[in-house]
This record gives sequence, C-alpha cells and structure tokens, in this order.
Amino acid sequence: MTIVTIVAILKIMNILLALASRIRTPGVEGTLVRRIAHIGVLAILVAGSLVATASCGGSDGAEPSITVYSARSQQLVGKLFDRFQAETGIDVQVRYGGSGELASTILEEGENSPADLFFAQDAGALGALEAEGVLRRLPDELLRGIDSAYQSQNGVWVGVSGRARSVVFNSDSVEIGELPLSILGFTDPVWKGRIGWPPTNASFLSFVTALRVVYGEDQARDWLRGIIANQPHRYKNNSAVVQAVGVGEVDVGFANHYYLYRFLEENGPEFPAANYFPPNGDLGAMVNVAGVGVLAASDTPERAVRLVEYLLSPEAQKYFADTTYEFPLVPGIPADPRLPSVDELQVPDLKLGDLKDIQGTLDLMREIGMF
Ligand SMILES: [Fe+2]
Repeated sequence: MTIVTIVAILKIMNILLALASRIRTPGVEGTLVRRIAHIGVLAILVAGSLVATASCGGSDGAEPSITVYSARSQQLVGKLFDRFQAETGIDVQVRYGGSGELASTILEEGENSPADLFFAQDAGALGALEAEGVLRRLPDELLRGIDSAYQSQNGVWVGVSGRARSVVFNSDSVEIGELPLSILGFTDPVWKGRIGWPPTNASFLSFVTALRVVYGEDQARDWLRGIIANQPHRYKNNSAVVQAVGVGEVDVGFANHYYLYRFLEENGPEFPAANYFPPNGDLGAMVNVAGVGVLAASDTPERAVRLVEYLLSPEAQKYFADTTYEFPLVPGIPADPRLPSVDELQVPDLKLGDLKDIQGTLDLMREIGMF
C-alpha cells in the first residue's frame, strides 16, 4: 500500500473524469457516463481506504512495534514473541542479554531507553529496577490472578513463570535418604569432593542473596565457607552442573529445577539424575520467577501491557509448563506432573523483590576469595 499506488489510482480517476466530461449525449453514451461515474466513485473509495491504512502504521508508515530487553534466551522465548506478533500485528524487537547487564543498560539509558518491556530471569533484577523507580504500575486486572508472592508489592512487575532451586543428585550413587533436610546441611564433611556448583550463575547469586536476607550476612558467609571447605567442583552454569551429575563427575549439584528435564528429554529416562527439593520451605528449593515490567519511559505502554497479558495467557502459560518445564503462575494451568506443586515449595517469608542486592552478594563472595 504505497504512495505510488495511491498516486496511480488518482491518475486513473482523473482520466475517467476527463472522459466523462467529453460524453454529453443521452442514450448509449449516457449509460457509459453513469458507468464511468460508478468506477470513479469506487476508485475514490479505494484510494480513501488506502490512505487510511497507510496512516494507521504511524507517520513513517511502519507497523506498530515494541522493544523488549530479554534476559531469557531467544531459544527459550523467541517463539512466544513470534506468536504474539502473529496474533496482534505488533512487531517485537528484541535485545537479548544477561539480567544484570540489561537492567544496568536500562538505568544508563534512562528516559531515552528504547526498551518498552524488560523480561528478567529473576525477581532480583526487577526489584533493582523497581527501587530506581523506572517501572510503571501494571493494570490491577492483570495482577489480580497472580499470587502476591510472585509480583511486586507496588504492582510494577509480575512473574510469568516459576523456577525452583533444586539439588540434582546422581541416582546411581546417591540414595534420596542420604540427602540433608536443608541445603545448609551440605557443609557436612560427608559431602567433601562430591558437590558441583555454578558460583557466577545469576540464579545461584539470587539464592545466596536469599540466604543473606533470611539468615543474615554472617550465616550466609559461613555457609559459603562451609561448602568451599568441601572442595566443590565449579561449573560455569546450571547445564554444566546437571551434566556433571549425570556423568558421575559429582554426586550432587546446585541448580534450577528445569535443567534436569531438558537432559531427560535429550538423553532419555535412563539419564541417572533426579531432582531433590529440600522440604519444609527450605531455601534449597526456593521459588524465584522469570518476570516482566513495563518501563515508565515507554511511549507505547499499552502495547507492552498487551505482551504482559499474552505471557499470562493460557497459551503462553502452557508453553512454560510444557516447553521450559517451569511452573505456570496462572492458577488452573497444570505444571509437569513430575514436579511438586509450587505451593509446597514456597518459602513463607521471602519477598522476591527483596533479592535486589546482588551487588552485596558479589561483594561477600569476593571478600571470601571466591572471585
Ligand atoms: Fe536458567
């Protein structure tokens, strides 16, 4: 629907009108005049609708779009953006990156940030943006359906899927009964040389932040030192931890729950690893969320809110349950049957927004020589 087309139609109309003005005799020619007049009216209508279509897309003629800063990978959530785009006609421009990195970029860019929506891997990054006042309040009707534990107390971000911490153990070498009731129990020397962990991973950092928030700085430091005394194997991410457990390089590993199911999917059920969720609301099975917030500086917040709505729709919630093996957060959408219910895992007094001080966690880890 270009300007060129519209100009062409207008030219044809001119020719028709010129012809009509030359034919003045009644009879056959009169019918011709009426026909030409009809065609002219049609052409005017077509041209009018084309002009209207062209102007709906904005002054530059482009289709409506939003920009998402996504800390979740394209491999995991790219399909969801594609489906949203197909359903709404809103073009989704995505910049992928790490949670912390994208959060700092948003703060640096300030009012000029092209981001309309931030999709974080954990609540800590959203809490950090909330503290800086750069997020906009979401509509109440969107927040109403989601457990208050999984949204900002000020209504500026909302979780769209849940992920639990878990202890992955090698099911050939470890009996579930040998595992301690709390993650704190892995400082026991019986675990010397048997633990795998990913100390620089964002979810692990959130977990250590939770230890600091719930038990205080000293106890968090003691736990880290206790694990280090057990000479843990260090891995770069959760996948590597689960892999190491599966091949028997270590007996147990600290990870997020869903990585195991991806390995089972690829390797079949004989992959010798299982998830253990320390019971009674232990932090070793704490539930964090991947969630979203709309930027206060967004000039198209209503489009960004539509994407939030989509991520909380049954279609997207099912996608999280079936494709990423996470916990859907909208009631009534079932999680993978191998998982405990999200309510069983929930740590009573932990507010996810309180996990924003990742920097304090990095400082603590540096202080004890982990980096
Ligand atoms: Fe992850």
